[in-house]
Amino acid sequence: MKIAIAKEIDAAEPRVAATPDTVKKFKSLGIDVAIEPGAGIKSGLLDADYQAMGATVSADAVKDADIVIKVKRPEPSELATYKKGALVIAIMDPYGNDAALKAMADAGVSAFAMELMPRITRAQVMDVLSSQANLAGYRAVIESAEAFGRAFPMMMTAAGTVPAAKVFVMGVGVAGLQAIATARRLGAVVTATDVRPAVKEQVESLGAKFIAVEDEEFKQAETAGGYAKEMSKEYQAKQAALTAEHIKKQDIVITTALIPGRPAPKLVSADMVKSMKPGSVLVDLAVERGGNVEGVKSGEIAEVDGVKIVGFPNLAGKVAASASNLYAKNLQAFIETLIDKESKSLAVKWDDELVKATALTKDGSVIHPNFQPKA
Ligand code: NAI
Repeated sequence: MKIAIAKEIDAAEPRVAATPDTVKKFKSLGIDVAIEPGAGIKSGLLDADYQAMGATVSADAVKDADIVIKVKRPEPSELATYKKGALVIAIMDPYGNDAALKAMADAGVSAFAMELMPRITRAQVMDVLSSQANLAGYRAVIESAEAFGRAFPMMMTAAGTVPAAKVFVMGVGVAGLQAIATARRLGAVVTATDVRPAVKEQVESLGAKFIAVEDEEFKQAETAGGYAKEMSKEYQAKQAALTAEHIKKQDIVITTALIPGRPAPKLVSADMVKSMKPGSVLVDLAVERGGNVEGVKSGEIAEVDGVKIVGFPNLAGKVAASASNLYAKNLQAFIETLIDKESKSLAVKWDDELVKATALTKDGSVIHPNFQPKA
């Protein structure tokens, strides 16, 4: 049995799907590992590091591999090089990408989307949304500090006092919680908001203040999966009014609000941006899903009357070495459930809930219930 680590063809993707550590683990399970040359270099990992753990470095590593692991979903040009029936495991970004899913089905591979992993105890070690969002939340604060022309912590000096920066975090999932913690460590005064009531206590336990319209709808607003549901227009309007007043007084706004499978909710209007002082900074972590901030531009720092809107996609990729490390570990843990350790062969249990939740394609068809072609 052979696992191949593909090099990302997207030049903007610096992460890699395996580390020398995970290669060592695969080898110890009796699995052959091949890696495309230079796959790890942008995460600080040399071909020789993988070789030292027993991997073969080869330009056609994927050709006869039983499992191909990647960061991003493979393009048709990549799929053409994979073996029929191979398992392809990556962050697949499946929502709204029906043609790409069909291409994977047509290529005859069994594609698995790591981001659809259920959030159950057994799969915590495989949770890529958490491992990557945590780093993205950290990096968002670093980006904001970089773009901000003032200091974060309060400083009392002989020449005068520098006030602490005011940071407002909108959306307190995994990324938001890490953003709060990071901003606090830098000495900022932090407030945060979310539509899920469970969050309030978490925000307060990190030493930040919770800001939200806490009406009946808010008290109901959490789905069984722990994710946010889409709020009513009325709630959104009330929340926007509260937010508008609050944002005026902030130096930094970090937005991370997402609803699985839907465009990002618009939380900060152009007027709210304009109400901020020149020199203020917004960082929109939801930019890849349309953005939470009006006027955000993907890959750019947009400026509106002296206010900066940072719209960098893939912030986890800006901490590539750390992100690859955690992602590789997520993949390794999942792959261990897909093989039979005795016979050292593929043994996918198609009725396992982890497999059912993540498998997108098999035997030429899209099999995931959420992505069935519309009749
Ligand atoms: P996410 O990335 O889907 O969304 C980020 C945040 O935005 C969420 O907290 C969401 O409530 C919030 N949001 C959505 N619409 C909003 C709006 N209109 N205004 C303000 N905020 C809005 O969330 P993530 O990071 O994936 O976390 C979702 C939940 O899953 C959390 O409860 C988290 O603690 C939980 N979780 C559970 C795990 C497990 O049990 N294994 C592992 C990781 C997270």
